[in-house]
Amino acid sequence: MKASIALTPGDGIGPEVVNEARLVLEAVAKREGHQFNFTEHLLGGCAIDAKGTAMPDDTLAAAQAADAVLLGAVGGPKWDDPQAKVRPEQGLLAIRKALGLYANVRPVRPYPSLAKLSPLKPERVAGVDFVVIRELTGGLYFGTPKGRTQTPEGEVAVDTLVYTEKEIRRIVLLAFQMAQKRRKLVTSVDKANVLESSRLWRQVAIGVGKQFPDVKLEHQLVDSCAMRLITHAPQFDVIVTENMFGDILTDEAAVLAGSLGVLPSASLGEGKLGLYEPIHGSAPDIAGKGIANPVGTILSAAMLLRYSLGLEAEARAIEAAVSAALDAGCHTADLGARQPLTTAQMGNAIRERLAQ
Ligand code: IPM
Ligand code: MG
Repeated sequence: MKASIALTPGDGIGPEVVNEARLVLEAVAKREGHQFNFTEHLLGGCAIDAKGTAMPDDTLAAAQAADAVLLGAVGGPKWDDPQAKVRPEQGLLAIRKALGLYANVRPVRPYPSLAKLSPLKPERVAGVDFVVIRELTGGLYFGTPKGRTQTPEGEVAVDTLVYTEKEIRRIVLLAFQMAQKRRKLVTSVDKANVLESSRLWRQVAIGVGKQFPDVKLEHQLVDSCAMRLITHAPQFDVIVTENMFGDILTDEAAVLAGSLGVLPSASLGEGKLGLYEPIHGSAPDIAGKGIANPVGTILSAAMLLRYSLGLEAEARAIEAAVSAALDAGCHTADLGARQPLTTAQMGNAIRERLAQ
């Protein structure tokens, strides 16, 4: 098949890890006779430096015209001034919103060979296999009013947590559809004992659940969910939640896997177009050293093949190659290796196993 893939490597280690993922995609294309056309665009801090804005118009246009977008990471201390008018993260939020990517899908399935890296006891991590579906274009991140005002008593800042029935329904629907193909359990996470938006969330989730009699729906308050992720993680199958809760819970969930460096994500909307990115950040402390772990981005490329291009077999081949490389002890520095592989060596180790 022919597909066009827009790359937005971004900042810090972004370009290094995206390069390895691109090489993996090229290897897959060569092996299976696909034609992937790659273009590269600015997003985040590098776009602020070059163009004064975190999401330039031509980047958005290229993303809209592509079949999928593969992103590295955005941000870094250089752009961290709290007084700054433009911030790299705005580019990420703006592109998610502009592309209508309302569903952020983050699978968490720790690799047995990395279990020793998890801060949890091995028996708490064994068998963990769940996916968090985080609402991505609503809630506190985007609600209005938003901003600051001066009052006689001092400054006041406001963010608004707002959800429409429609926004809740489409994300919960996706959760049920995914659960149907998995272990058939949806955990809807809210704060319905306090928040009105959560009470609507729960009501809509119950309504959607009626269309899926084969899938069990449970509700969990976000605070106890945070606890259960540590105490009973293997019990979860599909977790669905609003934007801010999902942001927090996915970082917590990531710890189960032992390293942020190995986790991928997909941001999906109505059509096939999706944005794929590792869940780690730009890691400015190790940027440019060639030691970053490319696995999260390579697994994000696998998700790209699965969700945007419908290439399930190719996606699985990448995932199998990653597992095989990790199991064989090919580890980058973040995985605690005594003789760590470089970013390029790790990419190579995965491509070698892809060829087998
Ligand atoms: C994430 C990140 C972003 C978010 C930041 C960088 C804006 O934390 O993808 O989880 O909060 O969505
Ligand atoms: Mg986050």
